[in-house]
Amino acid sequence: MNYRFANRMLGMQTSPLRENAKKNMEESEVISFAYGFPPTEAFPMATLQEISQKIYTEVDPQILLQYGATEGYPLLRKLIKERLETINALKNDEEIMVVSGSTQAMDVAVKVLCNEGDIVLCEEMTFSGAVNAIKGYGAIPKEVPMNIEEESVDLEALEELLRMDSNHRIKMLYLIPTFQNPLGTSIPLEKRKAIYQLSKKYDVVIFEDDPYGDLLYEGDPIPKIKEMDTDGRVIYAGSFSKILAPSTRLGFVMAPDELLEKMILAKQVSDSHSNFYWQVMLAEFMQHHNFEEHVDFLKALYKEKLTTMMAGLDSLAQDKISYIKPTGGYFICCKLDNSIDMENFYQFLEEDKVVVIPGNIMSVNGKGYEHYIRLNFTKPTIEEIEIGIARLGTAIEKAAVKEVYRAS
Ligand SMILES: Cc1ncc(COP(=O)(O)O)c(C=O)c1O
Repeated sequence: MNYRFANRMLGMQTSPLRENAKKNMEESEVISFAYGFPPTEAFPMATLQEISQKIYTEVDPQILLQYGATEGYPLLRKLIKERLETINALKNDEEIMVVSGSTQAMDVAVKVLCNEGDIVLCEEMTFSGAVNAIKGYGAIPKEVPMNIEEESVDLEALEELLRMDSNHRIKMLYLIPTFQNPLGTSIPLEKRKAIYQLSKKYDVVIFEDDPYGDLLYEGDPIPKIKEMDTDGRVIYAGSFSKILAPSTRLGFVMAPDELLEKMILAKQVSDSHSNFYWQVMLAEFMQHHNFEEHVDFLKALYKEKLTTMMAGLDSLAQDKISYIKPTGGYFICCKLDNSIDMENFYQFLEEDKVVVIPGNIMSVNGKGYEHYIRLNFTKPTIEEIEIGIARLGTAIEKAAVKEVYRAS
């Protein structure tokens, strides 16, 4: 059969992250800093087992197993809203919809807002799932240059892009302001305010993707852009993948009524509603067990891993590797010195069985970040972090020496 695929599939690529993940999981001796996964000890197995047993005996099967409302289990929606107010200081009158992972929030947002050929501005390095969601509807992801040292998009460049858009093809600005993937950076408050003002001036929607926001290890939280939203232009998405379990596929999206109604319609076509078993499980966890204690446990666990990884990186040759210290989240992004031969570096790393994500995989246009690597610190053990970072240092030294040798 000669399949004639739709044009919208042209720009979409299988994620090298996912493909490698499959391969990697089969090779147990590999030390992987590659994927944004939680470790086994992050899963609250005893609590989940207890809740699971309880809901099968105590919850009405018409709630647990029947078709349900697209916007989600009412009790869970109420609990998420309360949590946003009390824990995340995000208080407003807008409703939320439960979605099948925050990836789906982005998918439905693009679906309801973008025509083919419309533009979605993204940070130059960003989450590949969002880029695919944009391409999936024939919209165009366009990179906004970053000022990595300042942990932000370059505000002048952003304004220039918005100012030049005389045909109003820019519909949305997709941002991961807190503990960015892959950079680990967080946009400072003043810049968040400036970004919001620009979005207002040029009348574009902001999609604030915040799956890592709860995982703060140091300092005070920075107010979310959604908190500044006085005219309903920020779509805010959260996720339970990183604070409960990715397989629950539970996330949520907060948006003004007019927008949310359209997003509900879009989701209805896609999967009717998110899995009610897990929605009931989570509601029970949040209502009758100490969910915040669990999140605190994760924060302590990951803080130790982050500290270990940074200590390892700080012990390597500082003229060859640098990074911006994250205060939360899942990732550290490192810049290797331009003198390092990256092809050799990856070769040495592979021989030593260490896996990292090359910067260009996370770059919107697939280039410009050849000397960057993303390291995940949540999934590996402390011992793996110590051994893996030492091996990384050796690969850097060898790749640098090789370059000198070649040049002479
Ligand atoms: C920025 C960002 N958004 C969304 C996701 C996906 O979240 P979910 O599992 O809720 O779809 C990730 C995941 O890894 C991410 O890094």
